[in-house]
Amino acid sequence: MSLLFQTIKNTGKSQTLKKLIRSPISSCKCLLARNSSDVSRKFLSFDEVVLQRRDEARRSLVIQVNSESSFSELYGYCSNYATINGIHHYKNAGGEHFMLIEFNTEDSLKEILQSCSSHQKDNDIMALQSPFLWFRASPVKKDKLASSSSRLITKNGNAAIDEDMLFGELTNCATVSDQIQLLYDRTMLNDLGIRLRYMVARQLEIVFESLYANIAVRPFGSSVNGFGRMGCDLDLVLSNNLTDEMSDANKRLVYQDKKSEGGRGPWQRHMELVGELLELRVVGATRVQRILHARVPIVKYAHEFTDVDCDLCYNNMSGVYMSELLWMYGSLDPRVRPLAFLVRRWAAAVGLTNQHPGRWITNFPLTLMVLFFLQQKTSNGFILPSLKNLVNRARKQDMRIAEENVNCTFLRDMNILPQECYSQNQSNLETLLLQFFEYYAQFDFQEKAICINEGRPVRKPNALPLYIVNPLAPSLNVSRNVSYEECERLKSEVRNAAWQLEAGLEGERPDDWGVLGLIEKKASRGLKKLLRVGNSHRLVSVKDLFNDNDENISEGGLRSKLQRLTQTTAKEIKQVLANQNVEGKKDQKIKFKNNQVANEVYRIRRNKMV
Ligand code: GTP
Ligand code: MG
Repeated sequence: MSLLFQTIKNTGKSQTLKKLIRSPISSCKCLLARNSSDVSRKFLSFDEVVLQRRDEARRSLVIQVNSESSFSELYGYCSNYATINGIHHYKNAGGEHFMLIEFNTEDSLKEILQSCSSHQKDNDIMALQSPFLWFRASPVKKDKLASSSSRLITKNGNAAIDEDMLFGELTNCATVSDQIQLLYDRTMLNDLGIRLRYMVARQLEIVFESLYANIAVRPFGSSVNGFGRMGCDLDLVLSNNLTDEMSDANKRLVYQDKKSEGGRGPWQRHMELVGELLELRVVGATRVQRILHARVPIVKYAHEFTDVDCDLCYNNMSGVYMSELLWMYGSLDPRVRPLAFLVRRWAAAVGLTNQHPGRWITNFPLTLMVLFFLQQKTSNGFILPSLKNLVNRARKQDMRIAEENVNCTFLRDMNILPQECYSQNQSNLETLLLQFFEYYAQFDFQEKAICINEGRPVRKPNALPLYIVNPLAPSLNVSRNVSYEECERLKSEVRNAAWQLEAGLEGERPDDWGVLGLIEKKASRGLKKLLRVGNSHRLVSVKDLFNDNDENISEGGLRSKLQRLTQTTAKEIKQVLANQNVEGKKDQKIKFKNNQVANEVYRIRRNKMV
């Protein structure tokens, strides 16, 4: 029995949790925090959320269909086998349609899988165990249709919000705080996004279950730590399923295991095997890339049925516990995640972060900077507790030791954290954002390190330009890769942002008021500025060309007038487009030689789906 079940059973909550797990439609928000009126259980723990998500994935299938209107027939067909909790529809980047079906029990899902057929006519193709299936057109009479009361829970549920629409909504907000909240609400990873990521993890678990005993594939990072946006990547770790059952001395039959010696070597070989399996045995996995000589060897791949880019590593439980810590900090106060979202978005817009690895800061240390700022004791009080405080309050059941003896013990149940340890400061998001930029604009990066363990700046142990203490391994710096130049850029960008935000709070509202000026990409900002009303004198209008006074304008005259009018504008537009081109090129996906592996298996399906 897992630690979680034991804890909950002891406190008499097992029925509540079971109900929660079986509840047919659990929205993403209900998993972010419990109803605050339930004082004794105000916060859900990370383990509870993960348990529910993993359980959902074990009861779910993702089925490729012909279109959204296949819903009725699919519902009718599957309900012959089992009770359906709900169906979500989405499209991938290739425009293909999928339905994620959640069944009531895992047994009924197994029954459905036993009834699945494979494609008989193509001998080159081998059917693969997986929760990803496709729905074949019926050769004879149609299956019974869904009753009129059954509906899709989400249509096109994986689509990211249109940026123009988002900026329109942000423009119309009443306050900067509303803008920050709206940006979070509209761009956070939604329920379907999380479900699909757990399905991708479950798919790997099914493949690896035949090779390893008690194996688990767990998502970590932004997909599960509460700071993920729509389209974020999926970090996965392959590890032992850590339950008390496995170390129970009363269980006398134990699996033999194969000892591997020689440091990182055996892990690299495991990951090589994983790479092969991904290419040959995992449907939807494409562009497999092995990065085996890194400190933590990883295999990257793209999952084309769900449009998720995945990074899979081995036995990195400290990454999972780090995600748990971030999840807990995010759930303690409702302002933490919106503020971090804004800061992450601003950093991407001004080019401080970049989706490729390099000598710049990344989202994870940036999030630690936000948490650290929220720990500071201002005249209004602080918002988040130090990690030291959570460690001091840890109980026996909070003990966790990760690989390489990394101690990941800290209080995990936020319900027993006294109220005076958090949310003391009642400032709104606008004030907090401005204070965030001001705080780092005057931070002594040369002498001090950012340390959420202490909740206050500490002396830097070395001369690296940026020092952010790794909360779970305090002798390490999570921003050791950041160069002097990038650190200088960080300093100057926080100063600019503080100035820009403060200046925008006075006087009339310009077009890029509030956070708009902070989160627009520099290149498009230039183009938009050029096209804005304030610059209308520089735009070419037909009226300008055919001025009332120019009655008998010759062709040559018209050309020179046109040239004169367009000269400045064209030059500037060219510059803006050139900048955009550079960015576009940076964003282009690398092509891998094994692109076609999954497509091969896939090609037979065309024209045969309902
Ligand atoms: P995005 O992928 O950018 O949305 O954010 P992310 O939080 O998922 O970051 P990333 O994919 O870079 O890393 C995934 C997780 O690995 C993080 O959330 C951390 O838990 C962990 N992690 C990242 N960098 C470090 C590091 O330098 N040291 C340690 N110990 N863990 C790290
Ligand atoms: Mg990530």
